[in-house]
Amino acid sequence: MVYRSLLRPLLFNLPPETAHHLALKSLSLARPFIGRSLAPDKSTAIKLFGLAFPNPIGLAAGFDKNGVALQELASLGFGHIEAGTVTFHAQPGNPKPRLFRLPQDQALINRAGFNNEGAAAFAQRVRTARPDCVLGVSIGKSKITPLENAIDDYLGSFDLVYEVADYIAVNVSSPNTPQLRELQQADQLTSLVRALKTRNRELQLRINRSAPVPMLVKLSPDLSTSELEMIVDVVGKENVDGIIATNTTTSRDNLNSAKQKVAACGEGGLSGLPLRSRSTDIVARIYRLTDGRIPIIGVGGIFTAEDAWEKICAGASLVQLYTGFIYEGPFVARKINRGLVEIMKREGVSHLQEVIGMKANR
Ligand SMILES: Cc1cc2nc3c(=O)[nH]c(=O)nc-3n(C[C@H](O)[C@H](O)[C@H](O)COP(=O)(O)O)c2cc1C
Repeated sequence: MVYRSLLRPLLFNLPPETAHHLALKSLSLARPFIGRSLAPDKSTAIKLFGLAFPNPIGLAAGFDKNGVALQELASLGFGHIEAGTVTFHAQPGNPKPRLFRLPQDQALINRAGFNNEGAAAFAQRVRTARPDCVLGVSIGKSKITPLENAIDDYLGSFDLVYEVADYIAVNVSSPNTPQLRELQQADQLTSLVRALKTRNRELQLRINRSAPVPMLVKLSPDLSTSELEMIVDVVGKENVDGIIATNTTTSRDNLNSAKQKVAACGEGGLSGLPLRSRSTDIVARIYRLTDGRIPIIGVGGIFTAEDAWEKICAGASLVQLYTGFIYEGPFVARKINRGLVEIMKREGVSHLQEVIGMKANR
């Protein structure tokens, strides 16, 4: 309430990226005053990929690209944080402005372009400042690396973040790195995933980990039915541990904001409310295609517990949000976690796992 009536108007008066930096800075300064993470609730805690997620709500990739406020973000109630996307080479990202708000649509448009300090700097920082929750690390291709050398670039980042990551998300779906989404094509994805799996086993043996690091692939919401079918086939054949669905969309359909306002933002990925049903639909399609055998992390347009519930019923084992955090404020993860427990009581469900995919066929 205080966030929406007081803090959000102040923050929304600032350019979006300035507000973002201010929020991250305030969080890291608040470290001494921030309490511990939420105690897990037995009815929503979940074991997946051999990891214990204290609750199903995660912070999506892109919010804390450099891992500067992970502990503070965990204490806001997130059960997992997907940090990054980091790239092998540090890079500035696209020219500013590159982040825009569409309040009438509860949406954002961004073309950040993987601005980050690089995988090495990330790993060094996180080694001494791990969050009190599951930590995923998203890796992407450096802009200066040509597409034909993408595998080596991903492998470079993979090596660097391996020891600090509870899981690694392979980002092949950002619309803001030229050609990146071509890596979702079946043959390209197969080569990339195979190379990373081989490296995973080598590193596991070298550092004596009990198991390889779980590896997930993050997909675009703009895939055609046949593209999605091919990807799901590759993911199954290559034993990828899970799918994150979805990244932002390049579509600008069905927006309430004035056409000129939308056009003035220019290119980039749209996130938030207009993405919600599209990403839920993809979650359900993946669930159906895999008969629920490959865990899905559902992301796109989640603002409330009802939204999270809907994604879980469509087939997501876990969910993430980014835009909802900007619009609803710092307590959104706690609110959604509490709300989920209430919905479960209302629906007579004793563990959240019982409803995963329950409505995937609708
Ligand atoms: C400003 C911004 C930056 C993002 N950066 C990344 C990124 O670096 N890597 C990634 O995989 N997704 C990134 N995303 C996409 C989000 O992780 C998420 O998939 C998408 O925004 C849909 O979720 P939402 O509607 O809850 O925001 C970014 C999103 C936004 C708004």
